[in-house]
Amino acid sequence: MNNTTLKIDITKINASKIPDTDFTNLVFGKTISDHMFVADYADGEWSNARIEPYAPLSLNPANATLHYGQSVFEGMKAYKNEAGEILVFRADANQKRLNESAKRLCIPEVPEELFMEGLRQLLELDKDWIPNRPGYSLYVRPFIFATDDYLGIRPSEKYKFMIFTCPVGAYYSKPVSVKVECQYTRAAEGGTGAAKAAGNYAASLLPALQAQKEGYDQLLWTDGKSHQHIEESGTMNVMFLINNALITAPTTTGTILKGITRDSVLTLAKEMGVKVEERFLRVTELEDSLRNGTLQEAFGTGTAATIAHISKIHINGRDYVLPEIKEDSFSSKILNTLDAIKYGKIADTHDWIIKIK
Ligand code: COI
Repeated sequence: MNNTTLKIDITKINASKIPDTDFTNLVFGKTISDHMFVADYADGEWSNARIEPYAPLSLNPANATLHYGQSVFEGMKAYKNEAGEILVFRADANQKRLNESAKRLCIPEVPEELFMEGLRQLLELDKDWIPNRPGYSLYVRPFIFATDDYLGIRPSEKYKFMIFTCPVGAYYSKPVSVKVECQYTRAAEGGTGAAKAAGNYAASLLPALQAQKEGYDQLLWTDGKSHQHIEESGTMNVMFLINNALITAPTTTGTILKGITRDSVLTLAKEMGVKVEERFLRVTELEDSLRNGTLQEAFGTGTAATIAHISKIHINGRDYVLPEIKEDSFSSKILNTLDAIKYGKIADTHDWIIKIK
């Protein structure tokens, strides 16, 4: 990533919070780095790009996002290689997906230069926040939200685009148990399921909490029409290795998030000679594969979750325990390969890594 002509005003924090931060005890999303990037949208253009100390925002109670939810976000990760250089995984894909989400919610797109240059300068400034322990990284959260103070249903005329970062470890520290959800719906065709829209996550909370009360970490959402096909999980896309074929829901219905980790895993799987099937897996087919032992592995894929092994699946009143994951399991190999690329330990043959200079 090269320097550009975009002018970003920088106000540095007086004293870094790093000395007060316990990097050995990071709860995902709780520790926020020193600075944040901000740009404002008004009168049809983005301006006033700046980096400031991370601090609370002042919002009017009539702020449109608080009432009507015009807000989209992204998640990506930055790593340090052995030479101490900053590597970001597929930030260009996140930038494109942020704008796809924005379009669906009538939010103005963020120009590539604003996104990339804001990211570059923020990471450069806060590079000491990037953990250099295996399995750890700096989670980057870009987002756009409406800032009109107006109670009415129409797209806001003003917005903020912001980026802040958090040093993190794994989102899930152990394999996850999931419940197949056949009552509530995450996304319907024609809806906002493919967008990384804040409201999608709000709507998923009640069913997810219910599942947690029943002892499961997460849901496996089914399609909104028939509830007979597996779509994705609440925090990640999902994949199943059945009879040596890797099966995951297609992203053609507009109900599935176009996961960047999902895409990376499918690319690596094809290169490893694994048969990939982007198709809907019927709940009955999943249950049959659990009963007859043809399901070899199930796992989630996501930026936060990376590769999250699934240890138990609940379907219609019955728990199925999955085979234990081993070092030579397909998903372990994929996780190790992805990590090696992200930490710059092996050649980046797909041009997935953006080096911050
Ligand atoms: C991500 O993977 O980046 C997400 O936004 C999911 C969320 C569970 C943190």
